[in-house]
Amino acid sequence: MKYDLTVIGSGPGGYVAAIRAAQLGMKTALVEKYDKLGGTCLNVGCIPSKALLDSSEHYHNAAQHFENHGIGVKGLSVDLARMVERKQEVVDQTVGGIDFLMKKNKVDVYHGMGSFVDAHKIKVEDGEGKTETIETSKTIIATGSKPITPADFNYDKKRVITSTEALNISKVPKKMVVIGGGVIGLELGSVFARLGTEVEVVEFLDRIIAGMDKDCSKELMRSLKKQGLKFHLKHKVTEVKTGKNNVKVEVQKRDSEEGFTITADYCLVAIGRRPYTEGLGLENVGVELDEKGRVKVDEHLKTAHDDIYAIGDVIRGAMLAHKAEEEGTMVAEILAGQKPHINYNLIPGVVYTWPEVAGVGKTEDQLKEEGIAVKVGKFPYKALGRARASTDTDGMVKILADKETDEVLGVHIVGARAADMIAEAVAAMEFRASAEDIARMSHAHPSYTEAVKEAALMATEDRAIHI
Ligand code: FAD
Ligand code: NAI
Repeated sequence: MKYDLTVIGSGPGGYVAAIRAAQLGMKTALVEKYDKLGGTCLNVGCIPSKALLDSSEHYHNAAQHFENHGIGVKGLSVDLARMVERKQEVVDQTVGGIDFLMKKNKVDVYHGMGSFVDAHKIKVEDGEGKTETIETSKTIIATGSKPITPADFNYDKKRVITSTEALNISKVPKKMVVIGGGVIGLELGSVFARLGTEVEVVEFLDRIIAGMDKDCSKELMRSLKKQGLKFHLKHKVTEVKTGKNNVKVEVQKRDSEEGFTITADYCLVAIGRRPYTEGLGLENVGVELDEKGRVKVDEHLKTAHDDIYAIGDVIRGAMLAHKAEEEGTMVAEILAGQKPHINYNLIPGVVYTWPEVAGVGKTEDQLKEEGIAVKVGKFPYKALGRARASTDTDGMVKILADKETDEVLGVHIVGARAADMIAEAVAAMEFRASAEDIARMSHAHPSYTEAVKEAALMATEDRAIHI
């Protein structure tokens, strides 16, 4: 078969690129090494983790908060096996949706490991060693990422696990050590802590979610501590030893030799992900990698070879599904002769803990480093009628606006529904709104979004109404 475009990898980057290319009239093939489409995000990432976060939140609320609302529950219990089963139902349904979309858009799907024979021939080898070669004018590499698992951590997929295995634990563990206070560590740490597991997080840096605004780190850590998570900041794990039914995690202070051992049922390794390029045959086409093993691309996402592009987790930038999707769309449109553009500064980041954390634009520290003078407007959730009505009073909205022009340069939210609220900030910043623009917009009452308006009022003129 001969295609205009072949996409290798069916995650949110790859399948979106394939759909957009097909919409633009290209004869398109999608190659996926696993039986199921959807990549990390749909199968072992965004969707299953959110399914378990929702289930565990229901339990946590029933156990901790229903009584306050006047709801009595007798005989409350957790069936983690059922939660995992429901999670899988959600995943299967979502993955099924991608199969449907491929058919609808007439994208030919090949299941098997894709590799370059040369720049215009892709070999697809299935699990039984059967191969097929397809011809293509252009190719997009969208092969995603895998968890980083250092040898000293003895990753055995049984007791020393990554997010992939954590999503399938069917009995609530007594104790879990999480290495890494980043997004995965805190989201999955929250799932188990809510179900009653004693969770200890070891983080090398002096704060959790270090990529987000400092105030968000502080506020989230305070909330998670209340939920029972324990943190060892400025500590590193030097070794993990596995027993039959437990793990011994060797922890050392980052700045001295002092250390201790934590024994737990599981050790979740969540210290980041690495680009996945193994077996692609990049050496056959001269595609280069950078110092971090990512496929090197230019501003149009083109690799060292003119007919090969790369998108998503396998290239530089945030490892986020929506970033991969934007890049998939962008490359398909470039190939169709259009001139699309991505504003990387306005890709929001969200952590789906409770409270949720969401941010877009620059953090206060980044702006300080860049020497940009800003006005800071903050508004706490506890001053919000909507938050008091639901007793979700932990959190705040922080708006950073240019001191001279009042343009909004960063919005950072910790609190209920932050994940959805950040969309307003993205839209406002995409249109280069000033803090005053946001402050003068009507926000529904009572709603959490009123905190955005109030923070904007604070940033503009230090004149919030409700504090
Ligand atoms: P992937 O989704 O990794 O897909 C790559 C695909 O390529 C895979 O299916 C792989 O099998 C296939 N492949 C690899 N090599 C070959 C080959 N040679 N031949 C054929 N196929 C190949 N991001 C968010 O934005 N929001 C979230 O809430 C979120 N939650 C997450 C939770 C967890 C637990 C994890 C692990 C990640 C989460 N992410 C989240 C990150 C998100 O999953 C990734 O950023 C996203 O999946 C990247 O998309 P991608 O298309 O680049 O690659
Ligand atoms: P991460 O980069 O978010 O966090 C890793 C943390 O581990 C960092 O804080 C780092 O300082 C720490 N660390 C590294 N080595 C360590 C060591 N030896 N000891 C102790 N701490 C150590 O990576 P994570 O959580 O694994 O997630 C991977 C990617 O997946 C992220 O880049 C994220 O973008 C994506 N993801 C996104 C989600 C979302 O959008 N909600 C959810 C889950 C994952």
